[in-house]
Amino acid sequence: MFKGLLFSKALAVGIGVVTASAVCSMVAMVVIYQIEMSNDPPRRPPTPPATTPFPSGPPPNLRLPDTLVPQMYKLYLQPHFHVQVTNITNQTFAFTGNSTVIFKCVKNTNRIFLHSKDLNVTEYRVSDGRNTELRGKLSLTMGSSNFMEIELDGVLKAGETYTLFTAFEGELKDDMTGFYKSKYTVDGEDRFLATTQMQPTDARRVFPCFDEPAMKAVFNVTIIHRDGTTALSNSNRKGHIEITIDGETWLVTEFNPTHKMSTYLLAFTVSEFKRIPALGNSQIRTWARPEAISAGQADYAQKTAESILPAFEELYDIKYPLSKLEQIAIPDFSAGGMENWGLISYREGALLYEEGVSSTANMEWIARVISHELAHQWFGNLVTMKWWNDLWLNEGFATYISYIGIDSVHPEWKISDRFVLYETQPALQVDSLATSRPLSPRAEDVQTPANITQQFDQITYSKGASILRMLSIYLKDTVFQKGIKTYLKAYQYSNTEAADFWRHLQEALGPADINVAQVMKTWTQQMGYPLITINTKTGDVSQQHFLLNQTSTRNFVWYVPVLMLKSGSNEPDYKFDPVTEKGPVRRPEYRTEEDQWLLANVYYTGYYRVNYDQGNWEKLLKQLNMNPQEIPVINRGQLIDDAFNLARAHHVNTTLALNTTKFLYNETELIPWEFGLRNLKYFILMFDRSEVYGPMKAYMRKQVTPLYTHFKNYTDNSTVPEDHAEQYNQINAISVACANELPECQNMASAFFKGWMDDPEKNAIQSNLKSAIYCSAIAVGGEKEWDFAWEAYINATIASEKDKLRYGMSCSRNIWILNRYLTYTLDPSKIRKMDFVSTVNYIAANVAGQSLAWEFVQSHWTYIIQEYGGGIMPLGNLIDGVTERFSSELELKQLKQFQKDHGPDSFGSATQALEQAIERTGANIKWVKENKQTVLDWFQREPADK
Ligand SMILES: *[C@@H]1O[C@H](CO)[C@@H](O)[C@H](O)[C@H]1NC(C)=O
Ligand SMILES: *[C@@H]1O[C@H](CO)[C@@H](O)[C@H](O)[C@H]1NC(C)=O
Ligand SMILES: *[C@@H]1O[C@H](CO)[C@@H](O)[C@H](O)[C@H]1NC(C)=O
Ligand SMILES: *[C@@H]1O[C@H](CO)[C@@H](O)[C@H](O)[C@H]1NC(C)=O
Ligand SMILES: *[C@@H]1O[C@H](CO)[C@@H](O)[C@H](O)[C@H]1NC(C)=O
Ligand SMILES: [Zn+2]
Repeated sequence: MFKGLLFSKALAVGIGVVTASAVCSMVAMVVIYQIEMSNDPPRRPPTPPATTPFPSGPPPNLRLPDTLVPQMYKLYLQPHFHVQVTNITNQTFAFTGNSTVIFKCVKNTNRIFLHSKDLNVTEYRVSDGRNTELRGKLSLTMGSSNFMEIELDGVLKAGETYTLFTAFEGELKDDMTGFYKSKYTVDGEDRFLATTQMQPTDARRVFPCFDEPAMKAVFNVTIIHRDGTTALSNSNRKGHIEITIDGETWLVTEFNPTHKMSTYLLAFTVSEFKRIPALGNSQIRTWARPEAISAGQADYAQKTAESILPAFEELYDIKYPLSKLEQIAIPDFSAGGMENWGLISYREGALLYEEGVSSTANMEWIARVISHELAHQWFGNLVTMKWWNDLWLNEGFATYISYIGIDSVHPEWKISDRFVLYETQPALQVDSLATSRPLSPRAEDVQTPANITQQFDQITYSKGASILRMLSIYLKDTVFQKGIKTYLKAYQYSNTEAADFWRHLQEALGPADINVAQVMKTWTQQMGYPLITINTKTGDVSQQHFLLNQTSTRNFVWYVPVLMLKSGSNEPDYKFDPVTEKGPVRRPEYRTEEDQWLLANVYYTGYYRVNYDQGNWEKLLKQLNMNPQEIPVINRGQLIDDAFNLARAHHVNTTLALNTTKFLYNETELIPWEFGLRNLKYFILMFDRSEVYGPMKAYMRKQVTPLYTHFKNYTDNSTVPEDHAEQYNQINAISVACANELPECQNMASAFFKGWMDDPEKNAIQSNLKSAIYCSAIAVGGEKEWDFAWEAYINATIASEKDKLRYGMSCSRNIWILNRYLTYTLDPSKIRKMDFVSTVNYIAANVAGQSLAWEFVQSHWTYIIQEYGGGIMPLGNLIDGVTERFSSELELKQLKQFQKDHGPDSFGSATQALEQAIERTGANIKWVKENKQTVLDWFQREPADK
């Protein structure tokens, strides 16, 4: 699954922060794990020998017992809905079905456990190999196990094969999980479709099944659907007949048997969608609403998939295992994309692209999501993790590999340069909290569906990808890729854990001093990451656990590959020099000459932060201000990022951090700017309601003016810089300049917007700049501008344009307009449910909307939990978003009151987020107290606009 959403480039009116994918960081923090690396993780005591030939009572935990292994399912599904409601149809969203599962018994037992949820099971029948029926009693377990249990009168014998038949009924809801309905309009009329999202634990809501990733089986699927619709599933259609039921025509579509696969990868859709005529590769097909297909919006996705798939076949050295690969754009979809084997589903914004309407960021996002989902067709689908605690083996890999896929189609994008922006830095950010978790927790700590859902977080995706990148550079790409190939071959159609991958890498490496498993254990089993401290005078190096709140650091040690560079030497020392002890250890190579600086973590390939002695910091700052080109561009950003984080953790002064932003005045590259803006965003959130904001805004305006001028010709003439990163930095220039009230910028934005309002048929705003320009024009505009944008939002025919307008409308400064906008989010015909959280968060990010959004969430909490509490909607993000600015005692009190008013059990998947918000608010209050005067003085000292 691709979890991140593309939020519009500029996140706050206060500052154009930025992130092409300010990821839905479902910072779902679990328990705090205490793993001492000197000891192995604690083991559970062995189960006492059973006194009966088969265990009785429910399984000891929420996992299926190891008695039965499914082999093959025969599944019939019949959704009864009509695509279109007329005066003679009675719309219904019921579905009926039946399933026959053939399973093998591997240990004697008298009970069958499988999963079922929200289904009415109307019939069941167990029979043995000779088709003799076995009598038994069915019951459903209460609570979060979702077990359906059949207690048999007789015993199932090890080695024998049995079948279980179930017939069932369910309902297509609009909750974007299981088998669900989605809606769109054609000429003002509603149209419906049915689609699925099984990952992680919702196949059990479609049919009773052994719903665990290691319970792989073959699926024969038949779908009975209304005339005029098309049914799709993981494999190709085998046959297709017409039948009549109660005088109505239905189609019976039977699909070929799938390969052996996990339940969470199943997919079915029934719709009136069309596909684009096959271009080069007829094995790949892309489906969407008929209007989107005829507008050519799926062409880019088709072309991209056609190019990336062969690149992965070569990288993995295994042909794509299925006979077809379909992609489909779903109007209501909670994630970005889902890698269902052979039938990948996407939200529309992650698949549909229209030249001249969608932006470069939209195109890049589409390529990223496609590449990620295609990477899964091997990593995840062909070879699957044994259990969800190793989810990072799926998601970290797909994320890491997706960059290789994108590079193969768009080398000119230099996407790998931005890996640190999209992955490493966001992961380091959440991993520096005391509530972080190990990348690979123990299996017994990941049990309930809620535990499992919480694994889909920034740690799994971005930390997973970052440590793989670090490892592949450390071992060298060729070794890494050789290991991938042998690993995939060895485990195809089965399941693995991390140790299996390390073993294959070790073999690929050949004789060497490196013990891959030992090295990687320090990164996967401990939460957090190290801070490396280098004293360039003495050469002393040490490491410690880095946390923003230092009081909770642990006594961890990591195996840290250090790549370093000294001034005066042209080439960085490519030799990795691992720091493996806590230290300090004295290493002469870390000592520098009088005028020489040392830079560690060159190219930001390592997953850690670096601190130096004051003298070295000063030399680096001097270099940045005099001749920044001497420092690699990624490290110009990394130095800012490290300095700000070290300051928040009290390792260096806040003024040192602020000083690292001075050179931005002369900087035109994306990465340093991006890191500068991300880090200053915290200052803006803390101070944009205080007297610090005036001088800070003046400083920002001064810093950004040369950058704005750098892009002026492009901006004014609506032309596009050639370089991809330049295009992003142009957006930074405009959103930061306009947000900080550079008159030239605001006038430019308003003039472009007025031009569009004067001629609504012709939107001449360069598509990359739309978000920034809409935002600025609506911020300085009034009701007229907002209503025009709303009209355009309603009429837009492509999701990416709707997203930009939806963001732009959140920038209004009018309280009543923002309040009206908030009420629109309660009406799914205005704002889709999948966009609820991000819309409220956009409004909360606007300083004028902050308190409105918070009041809104408080007063509608019961409704919000009822509508969004169940599925995988990131409610934690909502709490994060509306409390992000909290830094006063009053706000802390309100938060605690909110928690008290609703009681501890009414926050669902946002429980942790609420606790973190309280903790964060406390920390913010403290930070503001300590730093306000220093920060005010610093900004006042800085000369304002020239
Ligand atoms: C599934 O389909 C295959 C091929 O059509 C057939 O051989 C097999 O028996 C079917 N399995 C079940 C359980 O119906
Ligand atoms: C149903 O709608 C059609 C036009 O779409 C109309 O001709 C017909 O009279 C309507 N029938 C009823 C029962 O309203
Ligand atoms: C629709 O439902 C009504 C009431 O249940 C029933 O009388 C009518 O026959 C149904 N119409 C169709 C077309 O099924
Ligand atoms: C399962 O459902 C299909 C389609 O409705 C039906 O044809 C078949 O008879 C059902 N199987 C059993 C055993 O009832
Ligand atoms: C399940 O059965 C109950 C009770 O008969 C009924 O109210 C409910 O609508 C049924 N649910 C579905 C999905 O058919
Ligand atoms: Zn994924």
